[in-house]
Amino acid sequence: MCGIVGVVPSGVGGMDVAGFLLEALALQEYRGYDSAGIAVVDCDGGGVRRLAVSGRVAKLKEAARAGGFGGFGGGTVDAIAAGIGHTRWATHGAPTERNAHPILAGGGAAIVHNGIIENHDELRAELRGRGRRFRTQTDSEVIAHLFAEGLRAGGDSLRAMRSAAGKLRGAFAVAAIARGRGEIVCARRGSPLLVGEGEGTLFVSSDAPALGGAAKRVLHLADGDCALLRAGEKARIVSAGGRRAGRQWRQTGAARAAANLGGYRHFMKKEIAEQPQAAAAAMADFVGRTGGLRTGAFGGELLRAMRDCRSVNIVACGTSYHAAMTARYWVETLAGTPCRANVASEYRYRADPGAGGSLTVAVSQSGETADTIAAAAAAKEKGARLLAIVNESDSTLARDCGRALPMRAGMEVGVASTKAFTAQLTVLLLLALGIAKEKGTLSARVEKGIVASLRRLPELLRGSLLLEGVMRKWAGEIVSCHSGSLVIPAKAGIQTGGGGKGKAGLDSRFRGNDKVFNDGVLFIGRGGHYPLALEGALKLKEISYIHAEGCAAGELKHGTLALVDAHMPAVVLAPGGALAEKTAANAAEIAARGGRLYVLAAENCGARIAARKIARVDDGCEWISPIVFAPPLQLLAYYAAKIRGADIDKPRNLAKSVTVE
Ligand code: AGP
Repeated sequence: MCGIVGVVPSGVGGMDVAGFLLEALALQEYRGYDSAGIAVVDCDGGGVRRLAVSGRVAKLKEAARAGGFGGFGGGTVDAIAAGIGHTRWATHGAPTERNAHPILAGGGAAIVHNGIIENHDELRAELRGRGRRFRTQTDSEVIAHLFAEGLRAGGDSLRAMRSAAGKLRGAFAVAAIARGRGEIVCARRGSPLLVGEGEGTLFVSSDAPALGGAAKRVLHLADGDCALLRAGEKARIVSAGGRRAGRQWRQTGAARAAANLGGYRHFMKKEIAEQPQAAAAAMADFVGRTGGLRTGAFGGELLRAMRDCRSVNIVACGTSYHAAMTARYWVETLAGTPCRANVASEYRYRADPGAGGSLTVAVSQSGETADTIAAAAAAKEKGARLLAIVNESDSTLARDCGRALPMRAGMEVGVASTKAFTAQLTVLLLLALGIAKEKGTLSARVEKGIVASLRRLPELLRGSLLLEGVMRKWAGEIVSCHSGSLVIPAKAGIQTGGGGKGKAGLDSRFRGNDKVFNDGVLFIGRGGHYPLALEGALKLKEISYIHAEGCAAGELKHGTLALVDAHMPAVVLAPGGALAEKTAANAAEIAARGGRLYVLAAENCGARIAARKIARVDDGCEWISPIVFAPPLQLLAYYAAKIRGADIDKPRNLAKSVTVE
């Protein structure tokens, strides 16, 4: 999603400001965006210059090079006093060059904004009434005008920003520059923003990795803070109440290794392959070579919360929510404790009388998902104790929750979450075991068995990755039936275009070839594999753009079964265990209606499923089975997207870090 970066160099002319901004924008590309831009203040009282494009940072770099912007790409580096940059994920207004940030306002001010201004219509009308002219369709432009008005009224930048921020409703992180001022002023409420410092140079960013190690220390602004970054001075921070505030600086570790494809064509594929190591890292502190679960790794305070909680309440979005749904089975079965998995965007607006006395677990790869952060805050207000499970330890969610269990999956770049999902599942299973042990519901025999299976998990994941060839074949078949090789049965009564392209009155998919698209793929599972069916469908949708639906296998006959005909591929998740026969019966219901079954079955699944396509996987035991089943589904989606030529790592309309509501 949108990303902000800004820099105030320590000395005039010593730094290639435009070059830094462009590289920093490239480092935050993984967040997902559809336009990008930079703006700089020239030294010696110079004005503000802006450069923006619709599309990728590479295009922005090209434009900078072609126009000699700031000396980027050769030539003399311009003397620049401050600069800001932005990658925009469009919400209000199309992703055009004009709507891209930085956004200019009269008086030589420019702003970049992450978040959504909810009262922008109102403010726009007021500002228009005062003669301001709007250039963009964005909600953000009101901030630029309010800030410029504050400057014109003779206020300093900090006062102008505080006054603008005071009029905004909604979430924002904003940074601004203005003509003749060697400074950046910024503010945040409900959207993260940090300030960095390195050898006298000051930085602002929505995300530490964008600074690429240039900042030696960073501080995270608190909600309501404004900050002034001026060359040669220390960062000045003012709290929501208007007082000078001291926020805690943290040394930054070694710069995070730049994302590297390591010989793979796509990050998603690389990250799928990394799952055995990621799972091993996720459990390293809890599972040794011998013995049971090492509960000491949870820490005394968390152990107390685990023991005392009356219920477990998990909040998460997307793939992380699917991990949460699986965890529900584990917590309820192992610990005998009520557990709910909640979609964070819904939870934040629910009353939830059960929150008090719960351990609320916020699960998020990025730790920056706005809905999950807000859901955790809502639970805390109701008296819940919080725990974050995050891949990014220095994230807003980890800080807000005050307690975090790291997934340790390593940086995930592909928008489609893969290794973070299996790492989340691993940590959640450890948590369920820990709660059960603390509450005294875990027998030594069960503990020993599950921990022994966890030890085998990396090896089992390697085994399931070997299904790559089969998944590639299945993907080919699924794509071909999606892209229309099936003849419409005459009795269906659908008119075709009779061979003529462009005939009116007929869905364009049916024109010209007497063929019909299949409209989806079904994924079914039961128990801990039901959430995995949802995840398999989500993965396929998000990167291949083929519609897919996950369904609890037993729920099929209550509606979804109506979709099934000879054109419907159905992926059946069939582990062994108590539910195997039930799942087989549901698969038979699909087969009886001509549906094409693709069955992913555990080696020990004895149930008879009559299907032409069956792939077997050694899934260890029922507890870790959902983790081992995940990689083949990810590979199926990957190859479907590859065959269709989709942009696998950056699927359309999506972002890696979903920082707006
Ligand atoms: C996963 O493939 C998705 N891109 C998405 O559903 C993601 O899991 C969701 O946005 C939550 O993100 P988080 O884990 O960073 O909070």
